[in-house]
Amino acid sequence: MKKQTIAIVGATGMLGSHVTRILASQGFNIIVAARNMDKAAEMFQNTEIEIRKADLKKPDTLRDAFRGADLLYLNLSTAPSERGQHFKTEIDGLGNAINAAIDTNIGRIGYLSSLVKDYSDTTWWVFDVKRKSVQLLLNSALPATIFYPSNFYENLTELQMKGNRIMLAGDQITKSWWIGTEDYGKQVAAAFRQQHNENREYPIQGPEPYNFEEAAKEFIRHYKPASLKISKAPMWLFRLIKPFSKEVDFQYNILNAINHYEETFISEKTWKELGRPQQTLKMFAESF
Ligand SMILES: NC(=O)c1ccc[n+]([C@@H]2O[C@H](COP(=O)([O-])OP(=O)(O)OC[C@H]3O[C@@H](n4cnc5c(N)ncnc54)[C@H](OP(=O)(O)O)[C@@H]3O)[C@@H](O)[C@H]2O)c1
Repeated sequence: MKKQTIAIVGATGMLGSHVTRILASQGFNIIVAARNMDKAAEMFQNTEIEIRKADLKKPDTLRDAFRGADLLYLNLSTAPSERGQHFKTEIDGLGNAINAAIDTNIGRIGYLSSLVKDYSDTTWWVFDVKRKSVQLLLNSALPATIFYPSNFYENLTELQMKGNRIMLAGDQITKSWWIGTEDYGKQVAAAFRQQHNENREYPIQGPEPYNFEEAAKEFIRHYKPASLKISKAPMWLFRLIKPFSKEVDFQYNILNAINHYEETFISEKTWKELGRPQQTLKMFAESF
């Protein structure tokens, strides 16, 4: 069978960089469609990944970048600075990407969304953006596979680790089924191997439930390169500062939603159709 080619927008992102490498290792040709060619070239040096210039704000660049691809994977995010702005990456950028994908005969779009976006007790604008992006995909002329992940292990190393500390904020009242990009990437690959023309939606959860503090303790227990400690900031501190900073307001809202979102395990069908995640948090920590 011909090797399928996946164009990826967002491959230079925190999660996108890992997923891109895993998709390449799963037997796909990869085209990284990036607005920052130097950053992409450095990230994917010594690989066979092709890099093309593309900006979600410029539809022509997307059409050029997607040419020859069979599939499109989108690892997009909404930045705090997009509040009140005209261009929203996950609505306007996504719309441009869908149109370019249709023009270039892409067969399917894979989209990284989020489980916590359905947290009901909030009117936060970012969750509205994320819900609209899902509707855009479900109503588009192209079949979409939408992934709704819980927390990623990589948050611990790439967002929460500051020096020799793991930063926490407030208390998470329930637990999340954490997952690593290693298993998630393999599930995306499995979804892209399926042959059908309908939309598909998959919650993405890993093998073990932890609240943030339990996850940090388990990670620290098995992480060998350094001796780490936990630092916890109270949520009232975020509430105090957030009127003065879009970034802190953003962090407060996402942390508040994760801390209160009552996650239950709903990924039986995902595991059956896309494979059961193998990597535990202990295994993730020991991989460093
Ligand atoms: N972290 C978690 O535990 C978790 C859980 C569930 C869901 N998620 C979701 O995962 C998604 C991705 O997260 P992430 O941390 O990987 O995001 P990220 O680091 O912010 O990556 C965003 C990517 O989009 C690219 N991009 C932005 N604007 C662009 C434009 N105009 N043209 C072309 N490319 C553009 C960025 O390129 P540059 O490198 O040039 O900026 C970057 O590669 C988020 O939507 C988040 O909600 C995360």
